[in-house]
Amino acid sequence: MSAFASTWLALREPADRAARDQALLSAAASHANSVANPLIVDLGCGTGSTLRTLSPLVPAASWRLVDNDPALLAEAKRRAANDAVETAEADLRDVAATPLAGARLVTASALFDLASREMVAALAERLAAEGTGFYAALSYDGTARWSKTHPLDIAVVAAFNRHQRGDKGLGPALGPGAGAELATAFGQRGFDVRSAESPWTLGPDDADLQAAFVEGMASAVSQTEMLEPEDVETWLAARLASVSTGRCVIGHLDILALPKG
Ligand SMILES: C[S@@+](CC[C@H](N)C(=O)[O-])C[C@H]1O[C@@H](n2cnc3c(N)ncnc32)[C@H](O)[C@@H]1O
Repeated sequence: MSAFASTWLALREPADRAARDQALLSAAASHANSVANPLIVDLGCGTGSTLRTLSPLVPAASWRLVDNDPALLAEAKRRAANDAVETAEADLRDVAATPLAGARLVTASALFDLASREMVAALAERLAAEGTGFYAALSYDGTARWSKTHPLDIAVVAAFNRHQRGDKGLGPALGPGAGAELATAFGQRGFDVRSAESPWTLGPDDADLQAAFVEGMASAVSQTEMLEPEDVETWLAARLASVSTGRCVIGHLDILALPKG
């Protein structure tokens, strides 16, 4: 399943919603609510997960959802069914051309581990110049732990993290380094930066998500050729066999960067 497939995004949305740090989510909403009729621009919106999570806390906001996938944008628009939500097709690699003008708050979720250092620097520079707040949730932080350990876990996670740093369409990806890079880039440009862990804690009730996640990991690890194919198969079979009984914790970081004053 592609990382951008709407089935995958639907599967992960409840876990993402439960994982988001509530204090940062509330603080992001407060920042938006401190002006009348704020505009919130969500980058790499997919089908609108951040809109659905944050919009109840910012009832007066209007939203611009940005993605380069017209099918996901159409799905986001259909599910929003709200005049206060517009969509914009744009390639986020071109930060200067990204339609951010007038935003009180720029948001994203599960996006910045795909982004490059250059993109983060350009975005931080632009948002500093425009005095715009920034809330990026759920950047994968490189940690994955299971209640039932397997001898290949460490090697698999290391290979997966290597794969996470490959180009996913936004330049050489920051992967597990995204959270730290965002905090540094926005901090250096004068923002007040807060970060908080937002791990998925998955159990047997999340067996489908656990299975899809380890299948995605195995596929990524195979592409690195860091492990023997039989070892990847062995690991995946063991992991799939325990999704209905075991638990896992997949680490993420949320970042909130607000202009000072
Ligand atoms: C992992 S998904 C996250 C989607 C959504 N934010 C969520 O949390 O469900 C990453 C999103 O970034 C979008 N994306 C990836 N590369 C992009 C690019 N170069 N320009 C615009 N959007 C891009 C994908 O289409 C996808 O919707």
